[in-house]
Amino acid sequence: PKILVLHGPNLNLLGSREPDVYGTDTLASIDQRLQERGKRAGIEVATFQSNAEAPLIERVHAAKSDETAWIIINPAAFTHTSVALRDALAAVGLPFIEVHLSNVHAREAFRKHSYFSDLAAGVVAGFGAQSYELALEAAISRLASKPK
Ligand code: DQA
Repeated sequence: PKILVLHGPNLNLLGSREPDVYGTDTLASIDQRLQERGKRAGIEVATFQSNAEAPLIERVHAAKSDETAWIIINPAAFTHTSVALRDALAAVGLPFIEVHLSNVHAREAFRKHSYFSDLAAGVVAGFGAQSYELALEAAISRLASKPK
């Protein structure tokens, strides 16, 4: 099995993008830590970032037939706008965890609504880069406890 980590728009700029809000870790360093954690659990962690909706949707579609067992997704601004990306996750039916670096509930009102949370297995928000690591722990333990 594989765990797919998806990052939405502007997350390629992590490290320099509003560091007070999003921290100073780069996306590459976050992805590397996740891959190392996966390796210790014997699970491949694949990562993908796009600034556009279509490539994210197509990557979700591909997950249906590439052994992906769980998806961890930070939809970034698409959290609050994208019915299309939500529908893609509903279509493939793979369990997913929604992640945010910032606590979206402590920010502008428009960030409180998510098109993903009601479909997600769970949501982790507010712990910076560690939000991804907490989500990965949850996915790994769900995978480990799943009857074969
Ligand atoms: C974000 C929160 C979103 O509201 C914002 O548009 C992002 C990042 C987060 O990780 O905190 O781009 O998803």
